[in-house]
Amino acid sequence: MTAYLIRNVSVVGGAPTDLLIRDGVVAETGAGLTAPDATVLDATGLVALPGLVDLHTHLREPGREDAETVESGSRAAALGGYTAVCAMANTSPVADTAGVVEQVWRLGREAGLVDVQPVGAVTVGLAGERLAELGAMADSAARVRIFSDDGHCVADPKLMRRALEYVKAFDGVVAQHAEEPRLTEGAQMHEGEVSTRLGLTGWPAVAEEAIIARDVLLAEHVGSRLHICHVSTAGSVEVLRHAKARGVKVTAEVTPHHLLLTDEKATTYDPVYKVNPPLRTAADVAALRAALAEGVIDIVATDHAPHAVEDKECEWAYARPGMLGLETALSIALDVLGPQWDLIAERMSRAPARIAGLDSHGLDPAPGVPANLTLVDPAARRIVEPAELASRSRNTPYARMTLPGRIVATFLRGEPTVLDGKAVR
Ligand code: DOR
Ligand code: ZN
Repeated sequence: MTAYLIRNVSVVGGAPTDLLIRDGVVAETGAGLTAPDATVLDATGLVALPGLVDLHTHLREPGREDAETVESGSRAAALGGYTAVCAMANTSPVADTAGVVEQVWRLGREAGLVDVQPVGAVTVGLAGERLAELGAMADSAARVRIFSDDGHCVADPKLMRRALEYVKAFDGVVAQHAEEPRLTEGAQMHEGEVSTRLGLTGWPAVAEEAIIARDVLLAEHVGSRLHICHVSTAGSVEVLRHAKARGVKVTAEVTPHHLLLTDEKATTYDPVYKVNPPLRTAADVAALRAALAEGVIDIVATDHAPHAVEDKECEWAYARPGMLGLETALSIALDVLGPQWDLIAERMSRAPARIAGLDSHGLDPAPGVPANLTLVDPAARRIVEPAELASRSRNTPYARMTLPGRIVATFLRGEPTVLDGKAVR
C-alpha cells in the first residue's frame, strides 16, 4: 500500500500542516514531516476535509442501469469529494429485502470508490401497505440502519408509527419523504404565484409541513429517531425548530438545489428543473439557508437523482422529477455558505456520518483516524460541462454555470479514488 505525504494542507481551514497517510490511516500530522517511501503531494492552498458523506443518493441499480450504476454513481461521488453514500431503496426491484440490500452493498464493495451503505425500504415495494423485513435488512451483511420509502411518503400514520417503533431495537432511523399525497395529486411545481401564472397544478408547502408535524409528534410519542429528507419550505423549518426545542430526536436535510434555485426556473419549462419536492420561493431559500447555518437543518444531502434522457428531455408534465447532485454539491455549498470549513465539514461529513452510524467516516484528519478525506481547491473555478460528468445521466441544473471550488483528491481508507481532479479508475 502506497504511503502519501500531503504537504502544506489546511485541515478544515486551519494553519497549513503536513499529513502522512499510511496503511489506511492518518499516521502523522505536523509541519515538516519526512517519509522517504511516501508519494508527496503538494497541497499548498488546498483544504482537507473529512470525506463527504451523502445521506441521500439514488444509484438506480438494480433496474435502471442506463441511468446510473453503483459503479458510475460511486465514481461521481468520489469526484464530488464523497467517501460514503447512502443508496436509496427505490430501485427495481425495490431494496425491501436482505437479498437486494446485500446485492447493492456488494456492488459498492466491488466498485471500491466509496462506501455504499444501502437504505432499506420501509414498506414492501414502497407501496405503503405492509412493513418490509426491516429486521432482516438490519441483520444482513449490509447492516441497514436507515429505512426510507423515498420517492414516496409513508402516508399511513399507523405504519409510520410501527416503523419508528421497530427500528428502535437496533438504533435505526426512519427517513421520511414528507409529502401528503392527497394534497399533491397532479402537482407539477410549487404552489404559488408562479404556478398560478403558468397554469400548472401546484404542490403546496403545507403538504410537506403537515407530514413533518405529524411525524415529529409520532417520533416523540415512541421515542425513536426520525430523519426528514429534502426539507424545502420555511414552514417546515419552523416545525423542526419547535420539535428540536422539545427534545424530539429529529434530524433534517436540505439539498443543494433547494439552497440555490427557486420556482422561477419553471418559467423556462425546462424539465431539468422539475424535482420533488419542487423548487420553492426566494423566501423559502433564505429560510433554508438560515436554518442550515443555525443547525435547525442538520445536513446537506444531494438527492442525486439521475434520469435517462428520454425520461427527462420531454414535456414538463411527463418528465421524471430529480436532478444530479454528487459532482456539484461541494461547489454549491461553498457558493452558499462561503469558506466556512468547519460548518461545511459538520453539515456534509460529520453529522451525516453520525446520523447513518458510519463510524469510520466523518472524522477530521488526525493521527490514528481512518484516512477518509478529500482535498479541495477553494480558489479554483470550474464550468460545469454535463458531458464531462462521471454520472451516466446528464440532468444537472448547473450546466455551463461557473462554480467555485474543485475537488483535487479523495482518499478512501488511505487509497486515492481521485487524484489531480480525475478518478483513478
Ligand atoms: O426528485 C426526486 N427524485 N424526488 C424524489 O423523491 C425521488 C427522486 C428520484 O428517485 O428520482
Ligand atoms: Zn424524496
